[in-house]
Amino acid sequence: MKAFLFLPTLIFLTTHLAAQSFMMNPYGCKDARLLNGKWNAIVDLYCRGEAMKMYENRQPKTDTEFVEYSFKNGLRLDVPGDFNSQVPELKYYEGNVWYQRTFEATRTANHHQFLYFAGVSYQAAVWLNGKEIGRHEGGFTPFQFDVTNELLDGTNDLVVLVNNTRRVDGIPAMNFDWWNYGGILRDVFFINRPEIHVRDYKIQLKPGHQDLITGHLQIQGAREPQTVCLQIPELGINESLKTDANGLADFEIKSKPQLWEPTAPKVYATTVAVGSDTVSDEIGFREIKVDGTRILLNGKPVFLKGINFHEEIPQRLGRAYSDADASMIISEVKALGCNFIRTAHYPQNERIVRTAEKLGLMIWEEIPLWQGIEFSNPVILNKAQNMLKEMVYRDKNRAGIIIWSIANETSPSDYRDQVLTDLVKLTHSLDPTRLVGAAFDNVGYNKEAGTFTLKDKLSEAVDVVGVNKYLGWYQPFPMAPEKIRWQVAPQKPLIMTEFGCEALYGVHGSADTAHSWSEDYQENIYQKNYTMFENIPNLVGTSPWVLFDFRSPTRCHPQNQEGWNRKGLVSDKGQRKKAWWVVKKFYDNR
Ligand code: GCU
Repeated sequence: MKAFLFLPTLIFLTTHLAAQSFMMNPYGCKDARLLNGKWNAIVDLYCRGEAMKMYENRQPKTDTEFVEYSFKNGLRLDVPGDFNSQVPELKYYEGNVWYQRTFEATRTANHHQFLYFAGVSYQAAVWLNGKEIGRHEGGFTPFQFDVTNELLDGTNDLVVLVNNTRRVDGIPAMNFDWWNYGGILRDVFFINRPEIHVRDYKIQLKPGHQDLITGHLQIQGAREPQTVCLQIPELGINESLKTDANGLADFEIKSKPQLWEPTAPKVYATTVAVGSDTVSDEIGFREIKVDGTRILLNGKPVFLKGINFHEEIPQRLGRAYSDADASMIISEVKALGCNFIRTAHYPQNERIVRTAEKLGLMIWEEIPLWQGIEFSNPVILNKAQNMLKEMVYRDKNRAGIIIWSIANETSPSDYRDQVLTDLVKLTHSLDPTRLVGAAFDNVGYNKEAGTFTLKDKLSEAVDVVGVNKYLGWYQPFPMAPEKIRWQVAPQKPLIMTEFGCEALYGVHGSADTAHSWSEDYQENIYQKNYTMFENIPNLVGTSPWVLFDFRSPTRCHPQNQEGWNRKGLVSDKGQRKKAWWVVKKFYDNR
């Protein structure tokens, strides 16, 4: 019996193709139709579905023909959405779930049709009308397949097999501190595009220039050079560009846009058109760079008043995926007085990224190379490269994103150093306009000097060093906070990317009793951290861990956790804990 095992080579080949061929921004494409809604589903715990050819969705033609499955009249699941929070029995489920739906389509001459998945965790295999059209690995980046040849006029039968089983050779791997939500977590689009269409574009300020807009437009499907139009009406830009034999047109246009910044997050209505195809977007223009130990936004030093959050709606016990979800999360971020977010620990859905950008939040976006990665396995570099490419490819036009992060709390080793320094180089080559960071938890403490230091090759390779340190929780403050010194990456910008402690909303007690899960202790720890931060010369930002209490199977304390990580400044029911006001005051006074 063939289990649902992805052959590494098959996955990478497909993922690799998907990474290079998914299109920019279906949200701005007029012929993109959402296939969201209720899909039929089958839970395939023993992975028998492929052997049973469930992807054919066969209906018995005679009463002697025996088909021992049916997508009809059974389980139905919302797409987008994780399956764990939709069916009580699936709360901890890891394994195969089959999804099926039909959709109507018309084959159009001189057009290509695509299926675009904004995010499926963790592995996906897709069939259309019984034919396999592709597979993908990675739970947090988009992929798409050209289905022109498989599409029928009229009713089409779409089957998607999802498997969220954790993998030793996965990214993330077997252990991580968030819920292993599985399913078709984000939007699904059916896209009908003219043969010659806009496949990709990058439109940003030229680094070092605030009056030059530069980038490229990539056309798909043309055999000879095309005229492609770039329009940004508010800037009086209406450029007709000639593509080369590969459909590519580079450009550099003199223009002085109002620069995007947190207090004035200006974005410009932008269209890219070729022939009958048009893609629209809203693009912000800004410059981000490192100057010694400072981060300069549009030439001015900026302090990053940040917060971490997972892509989760606590009250729904599930993944966030909609505009309404994005608005709820980002409005809480804004209320805290932030200008920066770290979308822990993976690329979150585009609706969150776009909402954050429009509300003036700078973003640290990260691929899920989280603790416990098997760096000695050669497949890891390939998978990480694909996830990185997919993340950068999707969000390269998002002015809000200022830092690409390649890892969180990975342990130094020859393999890890090699893989991650390769990833830093790849990120710089994919996008020379943004900073590259990583979060480290391996700072050392020199007792005599009362000083924290970091010896880690990777910290020499990145532009910005993030440090995760839970003084007062996983280890006590080594001395009075005002006496502690930090000598971590002293020549580079340093961000405290995680700190804090757990507290159960409504629990009160002595502010000095560690591990009491009291709000008063959490408040005290935040005050001690902010006192300590005053003496970190190269500190350019802080992002407390974490905005909301979030779900994690690793957090099982029977009274205080029950499957929740309680480090939130806000409880799972939306109640602000006392520490929330410490952060708010610190940010309001910055
Ligand atoms: C780590 C990790 C987080 C985790 C946090 C914690 O720093 O990056 O994902 O949730 O610590 O221990 O709560």
